[in-house]
Amino acid sequence: MTTPETPTPFLVFEGPEGAGKSTQIEHLAARLRERGHDVLVTREPGGTPPGDRIRSVLLDPELDMAPETEFLLYAAARAEHVRSLIAPALNAGRIVLCDRFAASSVAYQGYGRGLDPTWVRDVNTHATQGLHPTATLLLDLPAAEGLARVAARGATDRLERADLAFHERVRDGFLRQAAEDARWTALDARQPEDTVREDVWQAVRPLFPTPVPPS
Ligand code: TMP
Repeated sequence: MTTPETPTPFLVFEGPEGAGKSTQIEHLAARLRERGHDVLVTREPGGTPPGDRIRSVLLDPELDMAPETEFLLYAAARAEHVRSLIAPALNAGRIVLCDRFAASSVAYQGYGRGLDPTWVRDVNTHATQGLHPTATLLLDLPAAEGLARVAARGATDRLERADLAFHERVRDGFLRQAAEDARWTALDARQPEDTVREDVWQAVRPLFPTPVPPS
């Protein structure tokens, strides 16, 4: 299931706001490490010093920006992320678990903001150097439920403050991508945390065969 660009699995978690991606990534990372794998956990936007700076601009609720500016900043953070962190880690034989990747731009800036989907995909291809996730786990839940979870946590960022109709288009954008690509698995993120953890494991398990002990 790996591709020439990904000598080891590159697994991406996607989903609307409040889906529990970071919790589930930590569960999966712990499980893989227990099995002896070398795992890098990272996120978008971020994962590198320039990417973290770009993240703080993108999420700042005080800033307003055009959808094009927003997308190009996500793409800039992604270009740096792939070149300086993700590709080197994969080439060094590490498993990479990433909280969001190019598909978030398709969902948020394409479906959500209404940018030309062909342009979004083209820029993504340059930003990622054509790197595709080995598998993508979509943690899906209704936009309103996710936003309620986020609001209960406290202060919200610029994207979380966008209106419900925007977040519903984003969710739809994720569901459509999942339906179009066999490398995606959509999971119900409204289930209890432990159930989602097991669903994630069942989805990715075939990528990590148990080593056969020497006879
Ligand atoms: P996070 O809350 O999952 O850490 O993601 C940061 C926010 O950035 C979240 O609201 C989703 C948004 N986002 C985009 O709009 N486009 C993108 O390409 C990425 C990676 C994230």
